[in-house]
Amino acid sequence: MTEFQNILFEKNDGIVFITINRPKALNALNKDVFDEISALLTEIAKDESIRVVIITGGGDKAFVAGADIAYMLPMSSPEGKAWGAIGQGVLNQIEKLPQPVIAAVNGFALGGGCELAMACDIRIASEKAKFGQPEVTLGIIPGFAGSQRLPRLVGKGKAKELLLTADMIDAQEALRIGLVNKVVPHEELIGAAVEMARKIMKHGPYAVRLCKEAVNVGMEVDLETGSRYEGTLFGITCATHDKQEGMSAFLEKRKPNFTGK
Ligand code: CAA
Repeated sequence: MTEFQNILFEKNDGIVFITINRPKALNALNKDVFDEISALLTEIAKDESIRVVIITGGGDKAFVAGADIAYMLPMSSPEGKAWGAIGQGVLNQIEKLPQPVIAAVNGFALGGGCELAMACDIRIASEKAKFGQPEVTLGIIPGFAGSQRLPRLVGKGKAKELLLTADMIDAQEALRIGLVNKVVPHEELIGAAVEMARKIMKHGPYAVRLCKEAVNVGMEVDLETGSRYEGTLFGITCATHDKQEGMSAFLEKRKPNFTGK
């Protein structure tokens, strides 16, 4: 894969670790960062040996402290709209990636950083993590779909409170309102993300992919349409080797040997 300037990546045992790595700017997002993430995700999507992606932030302070404010200062209205579309596009790429994506939130996840975490399938937070959508303090609103994903995750009332007050919340509060799945001691963060990744990796990879797709599609349509969509994907899984293997293994009281076929 290509060399990158703003992100680090490492592949280990079916897991890819992506580290947003601009620690001097608290990993703030500019176009170069998005271009690199996007190029890497395009490669990951094609690689069936990659089963789970873990995204974290470089340095000891931030996951991502938002979109880069210095980069946005000179933007005109059309440039701002285009910038929002770039960020939304990459976050959609994460959400739609065939493989599950876990955000290991190691510090500040603010503005675009919170939006990035919300585009991931699962969020595990260090007890040092802090979340918020402070855009209104800068005279703007979220541009990477934070005003859309936040209410879907925590409900309309709480989302509006966070968006309108710009309050920063700690990891425990994020857990309480459903913004994160789990909070762990700081030094155990990556271990906890890997543990969750390995749990997912025990299962049929194709079934895992279709489960992710069913939830993603279902959350955007009515229950009947979503259920019909699930039915179609369920039917597809019934024709797979992994279904034969998973069910036979259960009946034969042995561990399944899934192949993703
Ligand atoms: N963009 C650019 N640079 C940033 C940044 C950002 N979002 N966040 C932090 N930095 C830079 C700071 O400017 C500072 O740089 P210098 O050392 O060159 O001065 C460096 O990172 C360290 O930051 P601080 O000195 O501010 O560190 P701190 O510990 O005192 O505070 C913080 C940490 C509370 C996260 C604070 O940096 C902060 O409030 N950052 C901005 C958070 C923010 O408003 N994010 C939303 C951006 S808008 C957005 O994301 C819009 C969108 O949806 C499209």
